[in-house]
Amino acid sequence: MKIINIKDLNPGMFVVGVIKQTGHIKIKNQGWVKTQKSIDSLKATGVLEVEIDPSKTLHEEAHSDVPPCDMPEAVDSVVNPWHKSTSMDSELTQAAKLYDEAKNLQKKAFKDLQSGSTIDISAFKETAHGLIDSVFRNQDALACIARIREKDTYLLEHSINVSILISIFAKHMGLERSVIEQMTTGALLHDIGKVHIPDTILQKPAQLSIEEFEVMKQHAKYSYDIVMNAQLGKIATEIAGYHHERLDGSGYPFGYEAKDLSQYVRMAAIVDVYDALTAERVYKVGMTPVKAFRLLREETPHHFDTELLNVFINAIGVYPVGTLVKLTSQRVGIVSGSNPDTPLQPIVKVFYHAKHMRYIEVKDIDLANKRVNDGLEAAIKPEEFSLDLLKFFRHSMLP
Ligand SMILES: [Fe+2]
Repeated sequence: MKIINIKDLNPGMFVVGVIKQTGHIKIKNQGWVKTQKSIDSLKATGVLEVEIDPSKTLHEEAHSDVPPCDMPEAVDSVVNPWHKSTSMDSELTQAAKLYDEAKNLQKKAFKDLQSGSTIDISAFKETAHGLIDSVFRNQDALACIARIREKDTYLLEHSINVSILISIFAKHMGLERSVIEQMTTGALLHDIGKVHIPDTILQKPAQLSIEEFEVMKQHAKYSYDIVMNAQLGKIATEIAGYHHERLDGSGYPFGYEAKDLSQYVRMAAIVDVYDALTAERVYKVGMTPVKAFRLLREETPHHFDTELLNVFINAIGVYPVGTLVKLTSQRVGIVSGSNPDTPLQPIVKVFYHAKHMRYIEVKDIDLANKRVNDGLEAAIKPEEFSLDLLKFFRHSMLP
């Protein structure tokens, strides 16, 4: 057996297993690598080193003679998290509908609990299914909608955004579908305990006092109880109850430490903070994703898991879909597609000119295309140019 860098893997080699990777993609069984495409797919999923059996390496002539059934189902069956089975345009309509349905469900759940009745668990499971299916078809559509949000519906949209981001994250970790379902449902309900927090605290458009914050901290405990009673499983319950816990024990409400916090809870903590930092609120301007990543990095490893944060950033991209960016040509647009091999060169839908301060013809610019003589200058905030992204999104992006 020999351990080699993924760069040295060639078609015809027999892979025994993955040794080092940034994600947690599972390879079902070992086998020969058939094509360069398989190798590219392994690279795209974050595989860094593999173990091979040199005695089984097929040479050029032998390689072409091997019947297809002897070929590595294993390596070829690796799910490429970047694979898109639908186009962004066709997925957007479906994703926008799913998002609206999820928002109505959140609204109804809060009302139901406030009036003393129970929440409709099957509806939450169904919504989670729908969101995950969309993320697996083309993650860009829901990711884009999650970025462009209304300022006054944070409570409703935050939970949906966390569930979208966590399903993207879990997909890139190569987690099993049943686990992703629990994580997504848990994320949809992670802040449901806020139903027991007084409105004066919940809706306060400013920083909470120490006493108010003590009351607010209890929402995670309430969420834990609600999800536990709904029997949604251990993973979902822990996400609801422990998403504010930190690895060094400085979190709340239980003060648990790293040894008590599962990988799933650690993922939820990262996503929850990322969405809160980047959210536009009535009283607060949202951070750009780049800045939020920097802040999260500063809080590793004492608060957040370093390796998991790296996978998350890789999964949603340094310039996530939905981010407003300015190009060197001074054109302004929204990142509308990712290029996983060249994360700093995404596809941008331009619609405004920063220097001329006027709207321009809407078109997609693929910055990875060698014929495109343009590049990313910076992620910007809509306020800088008084741009109403929501209005633009509804008119220009939804088919
Ligand atoms: Fe929370």
